[in-house]
Amino acid sequence: MTTTDRGSLMVVAVLGGTGKEGSGLAMRWALGGYQVIIGSRDAQRAADRAAEMNKQLGGDYLVGKENPAAAAEADIVVLSVPYSAHKSTLESVKDLLQGKILVDITVPLKPPKVRRVHVPEGKAAALEAQTLVGDGVRVVAAFQNVSYEQLNKPEHKIDCDVLICGDDPAAREEVIKMAQAAGMRGIHAGPLDNAVAIEALTPVLLFINHKYSIAASGIRITGVQ
Ligand SMILES: NC(=O)c1ccc[n+]([C@@H]2O[C@H](COP(=O)([O-])OP(=O)(O)OC[C@H]3O[C@@H](n4cnc5c(N)ncnc54)[C@H](OP(=O)(O)O)[C@@H]3O)[C@@H](O)[C@H]2O)c1
Repeated sequence: MTTTDRGSLMVVAVLGGTGKEGSGLAMRWALGGYQVIIGSRDAQRAADRAAEMNKQLGGDYLVGKENPAAAAEADIVVLSVPYSAHKSTLESVKDLLQGKILVDITVPLKPPKVRRVHVPEGKAAALEAQTLVGDGVRVVAAFQNVSYEQLNKPEHKIDCDVLICGDDPAAREEVIKMAQAAGMRGIHAGPLDNAVAIEALTPVLLFINHKYSIAASGIRITGVQ
């Protein structure tokens, strides 16, 4: 199926979708019924990566474009770049995000100490994103606690939940659907301010991975049916 055939479906652009985390999510969303565009700083890299993923999936599911072109065509834009590239990437697409949902999956790690919580100046990457893009964009924070190791084989069943924060409940609900489409349970976790806690959980998980010599710990919320 081509993206043209999938014309009536929700379009998701994954900026930095050439990388580890974004590509795993992108493949799962493509299989889960979204029209997915891989975004990159380089159009050729995006196209090559999309072709590799299509080969892995056995069909014409994804296309690749430069980040601004991908953002322009999408209904929902996912930001999947290292924290060091967070601000510059957002600045390059800011105007194209207006009226849309931005899903920020960034963890503000401070290499090399990635197993230690680093609270950025704006308290959370997602809060910094909201300030940068303005009120015309509904920012939702999600997927920070899901390792790429869980995502990169779409047939692998993922054993963890996704905490989802955002000030707009309808936008959060859209991202709950995206978590489900990627094979996980999404949990409403409150306003965007709560992204501080969710982003800070990832270095804790990275510490646990290291201490117990495992690839990918995750979180589960008990008591929610
Ligand atoms: N890896 C995980 O398990 C994991 C888990 C949860 C959350 N996250 C978060 O997800 C985000 C992406 O993680 P990742 O592991 O996928 O990262 P990554 O593979 O290192 O990078 C993702 C993409 O970001 C772009 N990029 C890299 N450096 C850049 C720069 N200086 N300026 C602009 N773009 C740049 C690259 O795309 P192009 O070169 O094609 O532009 C790259 O393919 C991070 O914020 C991370 O904290 C990761």
